[in-house]
Amino acid sequence: MTPIISVANLSKTYGTGFKALTNVNLDIDKGEIFALLGPNGAGKTTLIGIVCGIVNASEGSVTVGGHDINRDYRAARSLIGLVPQELHTDAFETVWATASFSRGLFGKPKNPDHIEKVLKALSLWDKKDSKIITLSGGMKRRVMIAKALSHEPQILFLDEPTAGVDVELRKGMWEVVRGLKASGVTIILTTHYIDEAEEMADRVGVINKGEIILVEDKADLMQKLGRKRLTLHLQGRLDRIPEALAPYHLALGEEGRQLVYDYDTRGERTGITSLLGDLRNAGIRFADLETTQSSLEDIFVSLVRPQ
Ligand SMILES: Nc1ncnc2c1ncn2[C@@H]1O[C@H](COP(=O)(O)OP(=O)(O)O)[C@@H](O)[C@H]1O
Ligand SMILES: [Mg+2]
Repeated sequence: MTPIISVANLSKTYGTGFKALTNVNLDIDKGEIFALLGPNGAGKTTLIGIVCGIVNASEGSVTVGGHDINRDYRAARSLIGLVPQELHTDAFETVWATASFSRGLFGKPKNPDHIEKVLKALSLWDKKDSKIITLSGGMKRRVMIAKALSHEPQILFLDEPTAGVDVELRKGMWEVVRGLKASGVTIILTTHYIDEAEEMADRVGVINKGEIILVEDKADLMQKLGRKRLTLHLQGRLDRIPEALAPYHLALGEEGRQLVYDYDTRGERTGITSLLGDLRNAGIRFADLETTQSSLEDIFVSLVRPQ
């Protein structure tokens, strides 16, 4: 499948001499949700800016829907909706006017049915005649999404869509994004919230100091880098771990009522079967057990930790 966005050997040095991106290569598949994850200053907004034609690249090339963003700017840009990190709208315009005006900027004929559909999908329909200034932060953010969707783009960039948005609204935003994906829109979101990438993305790219350091299927990533923890809730209390169990490097928790075993899902064997056998031999009984997967957060922190 040809990617809907293809970024090749892209570098950006700002006028200040600061190198914000170094040799970025990235393909985005049609219809996926791609989360670009990275700490502040990593280069996320710069990368989006280049793909959207707002920032000039220093080196490399980008195609969107097969159109080169320099040679074929209008064709490339018309496929993209952008919700920028910094929200700026005309505070005294209405929701309806904001969304429909933007469509005109892309040279598309008026289509009130489409604008209505978008506003309804974003739960903004009953606010269509309200001035932006009267809306809450979360609603303003959704107006920006409506504006970005007004010209029926195939690709939507959301640059830190939920920064500073409270938990409830973040959940609502995620639902909107899932709905868009279901309607065939390709979504690229940047975030420094790991749980957002973990919850939403089909694939995750990690960017740090202007370099893409990893691109993986989210599930593969967690599988590959993830470790698991088995916690056994014991029937009785244990003062110390029997010598016979030393090879498992178990830890005692909850004042001797829990045994904790960390294992690597990448290994040929997890060691769980023999552990359970050896526990029985040692006369240790447990009432319950659970396993937990290390989160994307653990993975992320280990990747971007200063060396
Ligand atoms: N216009 C600019 N001029 C000079 N440096 C910039 C400019 N825009 C961004 N930068 C620098 O480039 C780096 C990456 O910024 P940015 O792309 O906004 O990162 P992110 O979105 O990941 O937080 C930062 O160090 C930032 O200070
Ligand atoms: Mg940014």
